Amino acid sequence: MKVIVTENYDASCAVVAEMIRDLVKSKPACKLGLATGGTPVPIYKKLIEMNKAGEVDFSQVHTVNLDEYCGIPGTHDQSYRYFMDTNLFDHINIDKANTFVANGMGDFEANAAELEAKVREGGVADLQLLGIGNNGHIAFNEASDHLISVAHIETLTESTINANARFFEKKEDVPTKAITMGMGDILAAKCVVLVATGTAKVPAIKGLIMDNVITTQNPSTMLKMHENAIVVIDKELADAVGYKA
Ligand code: F6R
Repeated sequence: MKVIVTENYDASCAVVAEMIRDLVKSKPACKLGLATGGTPVPIYKKLIEMNKAGEVDFSQVHTVNLDEYCGIPGTHDQSYRYFMDTNLFDHINIDKANTFVANGMGDFEANAAELEAKVREGGVADLQLLGIGNNGHIAFNEASDHLISVAHIETLTESTINANARFFEKKEDVPTKAITMGMGDILAAKCVVLVATGTAKVPAIKGLIMDNVITTQNPSTMLKMHENAIVVIDKELADAVGYKA
């Protein structure tokens, strides 16, 4: 696992946007695994700017998203389909038919099976972008005594519901279940890039980069088994966990 420490969060986002830009330039028909949440928003903003400046062409790129809430449609402003459209896809020259976010409505099990098929359709992701939960969750693979390798329905923990309540009018509106890629799906990507910032992520990042322990109680630690995993953090977070480059 490689750890990159940057000056600040904006610099972290620039590093990751450049990685994605360079991948798309070298492999125009590449496949990207994408994430939602607060962390990747500036990365997507930078990719939009690069696309508008003619630095990167998304016309042949395929994408698959990590997860989607159960019980809200893609038109809902807190659905991850809506998030991806409004934060990225609507502003770049990607063919929306080549973008996949699991359907959060209808038969959830069937939708999870569809996500599982998409993870490997046309080959695995060239790059999987990740955030990390305060409890170490990756996608919606929650800290637990076991993890699941394939796409499935996950019951969200109190910690995740509390963290995501900021995006909803009230906590009771946060869906309690989600469809998520499994840990095996995520580790199947050729390269995995995790970005983190902020003090809330200190315990999770400590477990990820400060020792060699792998535990289902911090799902991010599974990345230690990946040959090409990159963790991008800013100096403030590195100092807070006691990481020295
Ligand atoms: C989102 C996802 C989640 C988030 C995590 C961190 O698709 O899979 O695991 O990456 O909850 O969220 P933020 O970035 O809002 O701190």
